[in-house]
Amino acid sequence: MKLRLKILRGAYTVEKPEFKVFEVEVQKGMTFLRILQKIKEETDPSLSFRHFCRAGICGTCAILIDGFPRLACKEQVLSYALIKEEVTLEPLKGFPLLKDLVVDHEVFTEKMKKYKTWLLEGEEYSKITPTLHRKIERAADCILCYACQSYCPQVLEEDYAGPVIFAKLYRLIKDPRNAIRDERFIYALDKGHLYHCLSCNKCNNCCPTETKPADLIREIMVYTGKNEEVRS
Ligand code: SF4
Ligand code: SF4
Ligand code: FES
Repeated sequence: MKLRLKILRGAYTVEKPEFKVFEVEVQKGMTFLRILQKIKEETDPSLSFRHFCRAGICGTCAILIDGFPRLACKEQVLSYALIKEEVTLEPLKGFPLLKDLVVDHEVFTEKMKKYKTWLLEGEEYSKITPTLHRKIERAADCILCYACQSYCPQVLEEDYAGPVIFAKLYRLIKDPRNAIRDERFIYALDKGHLYHCLSCNKCNNCCPTETKPADLIREIMVYTGKNEEVRS
């Protein structure tokens, strides 16, 4: 079965990236990552895209497939080829473009540093109970694919920290090692505009794991709503 793939091509040096069309032969079991590799091996060695684990674990291969963020290594091409003749592949929105389907994640790492989304040196060791571990495990499922971040209307339109930041902060709400809990959440409220979340669930819908950041954001709102020290 044949499928036309429209892939956005360009580099950060190019002012306006343009689509290039590739005609591909689709077989059962092929993922979009496999198709991209095939194009690179057989047709255009200059095509750039990211991948690493090829198993939905590292999160690096997320791209827009017909405008929706997906992991290229998980998404089956046949399910598209059965119902359409052409599919569009683009890089994630909201990140600087490096080349073709590759965006720069570094800007986001800097953002995470600002929000202190991990425990800092000096925050003391303390045991985590199995019950607490189960509670925060869901947030720990996040594979940093940035699908949610690139699909959140508030991140794209406003200065909103975004679902990944809040999913990471969620883990720290009840973590006994979090020595600067209030500082973290005051910053998230003030600079991250937590309450600008529209609760639209777009981030939940595109998340390839069980993290479901919109649910976690609602829980953080309950936490900050109840905690006057954080809100005042
Ligand atoms: S629920 Fe909130 S964080 Fe998630 S996509 Fe909508 S606005 Fe963004
Ligand atoms: S919360 Fe889900 S969609 Fe967002 S970066 Fe983590 S795994 Fe990806
Ligand atoms: S290559 Fe690792 S998640 Fe796709």
